[in-house]
Amino acid sequence: MSRITSTGSGPLEGVARIPGDKSISHRAVIFGAIATGETQITNLLDGEDVLCTISCFREMGLEITGPDEGRLQICGVGLKGLTAPKRTLRTGNSGTTMRLLTGLLVGQQFGCTLAGDQSLQRRPMTRVIDPLVQMGAHVDGTEGRPPLTIQPVKALHTICYEMPVVSAQVKSAILLAGLYASGVTQVVESMPTRDHSERMLCAFAGKEWRPGGIIQVEGGACLRGQQVNVPGDISSAAFFLVGASICPGSDLLLTDVGVNPTRVAVLEILKMMGANIELSNSRVKSGEPVCDIRVRTASLRAIDVPIAYVASAIDEFPVLAIAAAAAQGTTRIRGAQELRIKESDRIRAVVTGLQALGVIAVEYPDGMDITGGPFQSGIVDSLGDHRIAMAFAIAGARAEGPVVIDDCDNIGTSFPGFLRLANTLGLSLSEHP
Ligand code: S3P
Repeated sequence: MSRITSTGSGPLEGVARIPGDKSISHRAVIFGAIATGETQITNLLDGEDVLCTISCFREMGLEITGPDEGRLQICGVGLKGLTAPKRTLRTGNSGTTMRLLTGLLVGQQFGCTLAGDQSLQRRPMTRVIDPLVQMGAHVDGTEGRPPLTIQPVKALHTICYEMPVVSAQVKSAILLAGLYASGVTQVVESMPTRDHSERMLCAFAGKEWRPGGIIQVEGGACLRGQQVNVPGDISSAAFFLVGASICPGSDLLLTDVGVNPTRVAVLEILKMMGANIELSNSRVKSGEPVCDIRVRTASLRAIDVPIAYVASAIDEFPVLAIAAAAAQGTTRIRGAQELRIKESDRIRAVVTGLQALGVIAVEYPDGMDITGGPFQSGIVDSLGDHRIAMAFAIAGARAEGPVVIDDCDNIGTSFPGFLRLANTLGLSLSEHP
């Protein structure tokens, strides 16, 4: 298990292109596989999570070329063209792979098993099993957790599902299953979540996507292969947005970053804290809004994070906590209980990590209070969680001595090349076995 030592930083400077968006990359592979004809993807994230999705489809007979420098070519087999995998589908650390593929696979004429790594093994799957069972699917977990076993059923029914949890993964699983039910399947959200599946479904079905519409899918929809250019991942950009904000003298331009309205709460939260962030060159790529983001050092102040922003910034809280620890005053985060069931318990991991650096941080069932102050040198356990590891690598930039982060192997699930890029931009990170 590798560890990273983060030893201070000069200013963060330069122009950087952030790797492709993880959520959009997964979906481009999934829709490309079940469309007819060829799908060509560029700037695909070649992180381990997306590689798991690709290898699951290879197991189901797909001819896929790449990824090669972000290019992937998929010979789509249509809704009914997948073939029974000969072995268990391995979804690694990736909750998105497991949940979205479960939705897709309950509608197939074959059974299969999906299994993940130790972290994924602990994550709740009842949230996808329940609605899929309501649709007539036969899917079982082990006390609601992976591995999941799917048996084929004669037919799936449509549902109109009012989501009891706020989760784009659950929504997407239902929409994918809905492609195999006859009629229209609808999902009603209490709080909007990332809408990449809806946008991509429209693009592959040759329909115009309209914001604010009913979230629905028509069974048997005819999907055709597309060209998909994946925007940079705002969740990965967030590490450098915070890094540049808290390292004196920084001036950084991040190009081609996806700014889907369901993902930009991280920018709003940082701006509320006083961050100096400017968006330019706004455009739309493959149905997703994209722009360049310039960030310069600013003195940050504490805020009460509005609950309305929590769902859309859910992946960015580890690094937002580092921003809070560098801000003046006490930042309060509440309504974020979902953080406890991510790749690690991110509330516990962040609070314990900050305390190890001498920062005052208090844990609550659904959030945390963080009081800004100096960061001391210390050892932080990332608990094998990529976003915790990268967040504390950023914290090390501001610390009075080295910050050592344990168990960093999983950074490659979402941001291969993080270390190299971070060091190019001015951080000082070294890796040890
Ligand atoms: C994702 C949705 C979010 C997010 C995850 C990716 C997706 O999970 O945390 O990293 O691609 O749909 P939930 O939908 O469970 O909140």
